[in-house]
Parts: sequence; structure tokens; C-alpha cells
Amino acid sequence: MKKIAVIGTGYVGLVTGTCFAETGNDVICVDIDKEKVDLMKNGKVPIYEPHLDVLFERNIKEGRLRFTTDIAEGIKDAEIIFLALPTPPGEDGSADLSYVLGVGADLGKLMTEYKVIVDKSTVPVGTSEKVEAAIKAHATVEFDVVSNPEFLREGFAVDDFLKPDRVVIGTNSARARKIMGELYKPFVRQGNPILFMDEKSAELTKYAANSFLATKITFMNEIANFCEIVGANVDDVRIGIGSDDRIGNRFLFPGIGFGGSCFPKDVQALVKSGKEYNYDFDIINAVLRVNDQQRLRLIDKVLNHFGDVKGKTFGLWGLAFKPDTDDIREAPALYMIEKLLAAGAKIKAYDPEAMANVKKQYDFDIEYVDNQYTAIEGADALLIATEWGAFRNPDFELIKKNLKKPKVFDGRNLFGLEEMEERGFYYESIGRRTIVG
Ligand code: UDX
Repeated sequence: MKKIAVIGTGYVGLVTGTCFAETGNDVICVDIDKEKVDLMKNGKVPIYEPHLDVLFERNIKEGRLRFTTDIAEGIKDAEIIFLALPTPPGEDGSADLSYVLGVGADLGKLMTEYKVIVDKSTVPVGTSEKVEAAIKAHATVEFDVVSNPEFLREGFAVDDFLKPDRVVIGTNSARARKIMGELYKPFVRQGNPILFMDEKSAELTKYAANSFLATKITFMNEIANFCEIVGANVDDVRIGIGSDDRIGNRFLFPGIGFGGSCFPKDVQALVKSGKEYNYDFDIINAVLRVNDQQRLRLIDKVLNHFGDVKGKTFGLWGLAFKPDTDDIREAPALYMIEKLLAAGAKIKAYDPEAMANVKKQYDFDIEYVDNQYTAIEGADALLIATEWGAFRNPDFELIKKNLKKPKVFDGRNLFGLEEMEERGFYYESIGRRTIVG
């Protein structure tokens, strides 16, 4: 059992704190937001993440998971302090470290015995050195700063945390290494590795992993675009290349570009980090450029097909950047809505979880409806932006009945071409031939 403090109860902090409590540790989570802390004390999870609520309630009930707004109280007994603080992109795309460094200075003043301070937030190469300096400026006791990046997917975060492919721990301190190794032991029983390395390599591992995955998707998006031109089928090409173990069949699904809170931010931050060291990432710059275009690929198809969309109505299925989340950060749907509205179209949107967030954060002049079939009543076409489970096997007769004409523009390749042909739809997707109905 270890005593742990987690500072910052955003997405990463909450999952981290809860999962460490679940493995028997004593965890206290610190946040400056009193309202949120009160909510959590009452057992309410402030974010939507499958399976988190069950673990959360259990560990609060059993006394292993507590909350406070008082950082001094939070870190008093903790041997390990996780920093899970926001690092929002500044105007120039670089990560803003003011929260992390500010808390570092506070810790320096408050610590009265040896502690391991762990950077859990995704931070640029060299951050742990800065955190160390911020603490050292005030510290009177020994401490170690460790980089321990997270690799959590939204929607699968609990599973990813409890059963990680690998744990990356960046530190050159033998003392910190031993403590972190003990902490993570219960998570790697299946034999997955704990990889020890220096701080900078750990920090770069996170950016490199996300940028590589973003590149894999983007590569496939370009192949898909070319498939359309030459008349090939990207589904077949995808399976054809993915069967080679060296390539692997995951993360090869073409679509309307990557979004979310991590990929766009991390890819940009890596480019920015490169610039700071006078290194220009050619491939990653291209990834960003292609992704910007890919987000609007489906709308380009709509505009090509209809010519003028002024006064036309489109039913939009999906607003979240991916299914099983209410997260709309960098969601392709938002860019699609902007472009369609600018072209004078009307939109009726439906998403199972994310509508409240869009309403709150954007004042789009669109109609939100509470049923996927209502969204397409009297619409000129159905547009699909997110691959929610409920969209995969819909009532095609009802879709036909509700639409003016049976036209579907699918940014996620949810349906088979032959089936759509048999059902009599006009159907455009990504990287596959157009079905003219
Ligand atoms: C990602 C990483 O997977 C995770 O390891 C990291 O720590 C945080 O970022 P997440 O943003 O939750 O997780 O979503 P993920 O499921 O990885 O999808 C990212 C984006 O790529 C989504 O926009 C998704 O639609 C897109 N994507 C994914 C594709 O377009 N094609 C694919 O084959 C896979």
C-alpha cells in the first residue's frame, strides 16, 4: 500500500486516482474547484467514462479514495504525488506549463520529507527538468521528479489503466525507480513491461506514440482518397496491408480525420518542440495539413453532389469526436457544421451523449433533436460523423421514409457497399466507390 496524492481531477487525474485506489493504495485527490470536490465527495463522477463510476463509488465507500481542495492537506502524508494538471496549447501551439510549474513551486514550499513527484500530464521534452527547478527553488528536503506518461483512450481509460500494454517510467533515480516499480507491479502481472528510461525519453515516448498513430490514420486517409480517384476499395487495401504483422491491422480505418483531446494537441506540440530545437518535422507537418483537409472531405462530397446547398437540410448523426464519449474537442463534426452553415445549409443534429456540450460551447444555428430518425425527417441527406453503435445497424426503411431522397454521406464507412446498393441508396463513403442507388 502506498500513500498517493493526485493533483488535478480532470480526466487523467480521476482515472489515475481511482485506479490506484482500486489496487489497494490510499489516494487523496486535490483540486482547486470546490464545487467539483463537493460533488466527488458525494460519490459523483464529474466526467463520462465507462466503468469509472463503479470503481469510484466502491473506493470512496471503502475509504481509499478521498478529496480535498487543500493541497497542504493532500500532500502531507503522500509518498508519491501525481501531477495531472492541464497543459493547454498556448497561442503558438506550445503546451502552457504554468499550472504544472505553479504547483511545483507550491510543493517545494510545502514538502517536509522525501517525495516522488510524477508528471502524468502530457508535457514537452524537458518539462521534468523545469518542474524539478521550480520545486528546488523552494525545497528544503530531497525529492525526485519522474515522468510517467499515460496512454489512455477515452471510453477505455479504466481498462487501459488497469491492463496497460506497457508502463513508461522516466527517472535516473534508483530510489524513485524502486517506489514506482512497486506501485505499478499489480498492473503488469500478465507480463507486460515496465519500461524504465530517462525523463526526456519518457516524455518523448508519449508524443512519438501519439504522433505515430496520428500518422498511421492520416496515411490511410490519403490512401483512401487515392482509392476514390483510381476506383480501388480502401476496405480491401486496409486488410491487404494490415495482415502484414509489421504494419498491423489496428488504427488503419480511414474517415474524416483524427480529433479528440490528444492527437491534434500532441502532434502540434511535437512540431513546436522540434522548432525550439531548430528541427523541422516534415512528416508530422504533413500529417497536420492532410488532417485539416480530411475533416472537410465529407462536406466537399456533399457540396460536389448538391452544387448549391442553400436552404437544403441535412440530418447529422454524431457530434462527439468518437463513440462512447461526450467529448467534442477537435471533433470533425464541428468543422463540418461550420462549413455547411457557411454554405447556407440547415442542420438537424443528433448525438447520444455530446449534444449538451456542443450547445453549451458553440452557438451554432442548428436544431438539436433527441432521436436519430427525427434528425433526418424531411432532410435532403443523412451525414454520419461518429461511429456510435446505434448508427451501425439502423432501420434503413425508416431512413428512406424520413429522408426526401435516400441519400447517405458516411464519414465512417459504417455500411457495406453491396447492401446499400440492394437497399437502393445513393451512398458516398470514404475511399470506396459511390453507390448511385
Ligand atoms: C488517443 C490514444 O489512443 C491514447 O493512447 C492517448 O493517450 C490519447 O489519445 P483518444 O483520443 O481517446 O486516445 O482516441 P482514439 O480512440 O485513439 O482515437 C483518436 C482519433 O483517431 C479519433 O478521432 C478517431 O476517430 C481517429 N481514428 C482512430 C481514426 O480515424 N481511424 C482509426 O483507425 C483509429
